[in-house]
Amino acid sequence: MAITILAIESSCDDTSAAVIRDQVLLSNIIANQDVHQKYGGVIPELASRAHQQNIIPVVHRALEVANVGVGEVDAIAFTNGPGLLGSLLVGTSFAKGLSISLNVPLVEVNHLQGHILAHFIQKPGEEPNHPQFPFLCLLVSGGHSQIVVVRGPLEMEIIGQTLDDAAGEAFDKCAKVMGLPYPGGPFIDKLAAEGNPKAFKFAKPQIPELNYSFSGLKTSFLYFLRDRVAENPNFIEENKADLCASIQHTIIAVLMDKFVKATKLTGIREIAVAGGVSANSGLRSTLVEEGKKRKWKVFIPEFGYTTDNAAMIGITGYFKYLNGERTSLDVAPVTRIKM
Ligand code: KG4
Ligand code: ZN
Repeated sequence: MAITILAIESSCDDTSAAVIRDQVLLSNIIANQDVHQKYGGVIPELASRAHQQNIIPVVHRALEVANVGVGEVDAIAFTNGPGLLGSLLVGTSFAKGLSISLNVPLVEVNHLQGHILAHFIQKPGEEPNHPQFPFLCLLVSGGHSQIVVVRGPLEMEIIGQTLDDAAGEAFDKCAKVMGLPYPGGPFIDKLAAEGNPKAFKFAKPQIPELNYSFSGLKTSFLYFLRDRVAENPNFIEENKADLCASIQHTIIAVLMDKFVKATKLTGIREIAVAGGVSANSGLRSTLVEEGKKRKWKVFIPEFGYTTDNAAMIGITGYFKYLNGERTSLDVAPVTRIKM
């Protein structure tokens, strides 16, 4: 019998609900929160308030688009962390309430596992096309940068990670000092297409093993701009595309350097990328090029599954449900959790 999961994601600033039947996605509704844009970052209090306003219409719409009645739902999957506490609380409490009223089990999902398993989402009528286990995943989001060995849907090992800022944070912070809106990653991506990636050189961090560090890069970018602007107040405006192309090129080079090392150490050639930064066109094309050169099989998620969405929580909930995992009603959100 097919299993129908209603999934809820509210870890940061997107309220999302999805319906998934086995591995097939029936709906995936996302309400973005524009309220944060003028502040240059997510304001936690505003995020939880917007989640409260959005969650009922978003869940309602997800069921409507999927053409699924509440009586057909077998389980509620929800993001239990990591994320912002106030944001997570809205999704968790709502999921609990629904679980009680529909008398169906709850399945908690780790948001990061969700990003990785987004590769297993199937569209109606489409053939499955996902990496084979074990695969190596570069997980790059606004809060995390990790290299993960994925041995099974629920068997993952982090072999490298950032010691400070995440790759998405590096994009966003560099964008902010150039006066670009939040989140800056997509703006840098767009402007970089017109610029010269070799126009400016920024020192890459020297970090041991498979770990990353991006806070030094952000600081050196800031000081570089400060010095140039002191000489020419229009420096940023006159060089925006080259600045974007160069900083993007550096971030990608840093990511790829350790990732290539990880493929050599593990011998794994089945490759995937996940998380918000996997929407970056430079990173996508670099992975494809490197893949050709190094004989990797590369899996890049559809744009719609790169940034936060409930479809990825649904597919992870599905695997956990099949594995017999259930969550009790006294569960509390966890802002920082390991995989
Ligand atoms: O996965 P995600 O939606 O949220 C977290 O779980 O953190 O990732 C959001 C991050 C932001 O830092 C955003 O700037 C970045 O993903 N991002 C991008 C692009 N699209 C989103 N970074 C670079 N290029 C993009 N096209
Ligand atoms: Zn995310």
